[in-house]
Amino acid sequence: MSPSTPARGDRGKGAEGGGPVAEGSDECVPDGSFDATARVVDADGDGDERQVEAALRPKRLDDFPGQDRVREQLDLVLTAARRRGTPPDHVLLSGPPGLGKTTLALIVASELGQPIRVTSGPAIQHAGDLASVLSSLAEGEVLFLDEIHRMARPAEEMLYLAMEDFRVDVIIGKGPGATAIPLELPPFTVVGATTRSGLLPAPLRDRFGFTGHLDFYDAADLVTILHRSAGLLGLDADEDGITEIALRSRGTPRIANRLLRRVRDWAQVHGRGAHADRVTAHGARTALALFDVDERGLDRLDRAVLQALCRRFNGGPVGLSTLAVAVGEEADTVETVAEPFLVREGFMVRTPRGRAASVLAWRHLGLAPPPDAQGMWSATLPIDDAGGARF
Ligand SMILES: Nc1ncnc2c1ncn2[C@@H]1O[C@H](COP(=O)(O)OP(=O)(O)OP(=O)(O)O)[C@@H](O)[C@H]1O
Ligand SMILES: [Mg+2]
Repeated sequence: MSPSTPARGDRGKGAEGGGPVAEGSDECVPDGSFDATARVVDADGDGDERQVEAALRPKRLDDFPGQDRVREQLDLVLTAARRRGTPPDHVLLSGPPGLGKTTLALIVASELGQPIRVTSGPAIQHAGDLASVLSSLAEGEVLFLDEIHRMARPAEEMLYLAMEDFRVDVIIGKGPGATAIPLELPPFTVVGATTRSGLLPAPLRDRFGFTGHLDFYDAADLVTILHRSAGLLGLDADEDGITEIALRSRGTPRIANRLLRRVRDWAQVHGRGAHADRVTAHGARTALALFDVDERGLDRLDRAVLQALCRRFNGGPVGLSTLAVAVGEEADTVETVAEPFLVREGFMVRTPRGRAASVLAWRHLGLAPPPDAQGMWSATLPIDDAGGARF
């Protein structure tokens, strides 16, 4: 989980139980019981989900759709290293949750034909933790350090040395009598993954010879990913059904796979005739409406925020805390859970005077934007005026 996301389980009861509905409008206001981590469009996955995901991970670069540039670059780096017969440069993978960093790390090891040791920043709180991992690495082995930005500072310093000189200093004893015994390490490859590359200290970042930044996927790549996942789950899928899911997946394969599983549930329970056990456009629309995911991937909280902005504050700008009170949520939830996607997709604009709805937000809610809102915020819209899906 990225540290920008609120901790799991600290948001109360659950996503059920929509709050008060304003009379005479379709306004839907959460009541503070919103569980950000139970969202079907949450880009983070929990422990159980990660088990399910393992079955859907591509195992080779050729099998990994999307991220063309990173894939090609990585292919070059790995192929060259294989030909030379030496471990490749250390690899840093950065990007938002659910885009394939862990998947690519595992692929690096399988493309190199090497074993992989998996650990993560939070598990390395002392230099000694890292020393014991490093000293047990075999030659050529891949060390995957997930959430590398969360590693303790003394361990980071040990890692610089190990990455550059393949050496660690093991400290024996304490105080003035302590001695450092240098320990040579066989060459190995570190693959680091981070959702927050900006938090990595520059010296650590510089030790990575190759950095791949993963970006959100476009709809066509998500369609390919979903077809592949449907095949692995043994599902028949219509092109329209898959496209319907792809457009609602917020550019994120983890969300796409999760929505696919919900659509599969629907097809297995309610599917009749042509819909039985099959991903169809009708099944996808019905199932995802049930889970409150609309045709652009907005969920109940996202829409509540836009509703409040447009209906109560006439499009804004309005301060974050006022907006949060209007939707019955904490400011932190609005800021970390709803806002990034709304801003990225051009529904919401951050201004020095607060949050404002873009023209797209008004249209998405089926409302006519006031003339001043149109003039003020359309210039900042990063997407096409037709409001077509863009990831
Ligand atoms: N390009 C892709 N093709 C097919 N499936 C993908 C792709 N990228 C990600 N996935 C799937 O999405 C899910 C999440 O991917 P992964 O665990 O690699 O993301 P991550 O970037 O490591 O996320 P986090 O930051 O939360 O650790 C997995 O089930 C994986 O199979
Ligand atoms: Mg991961």
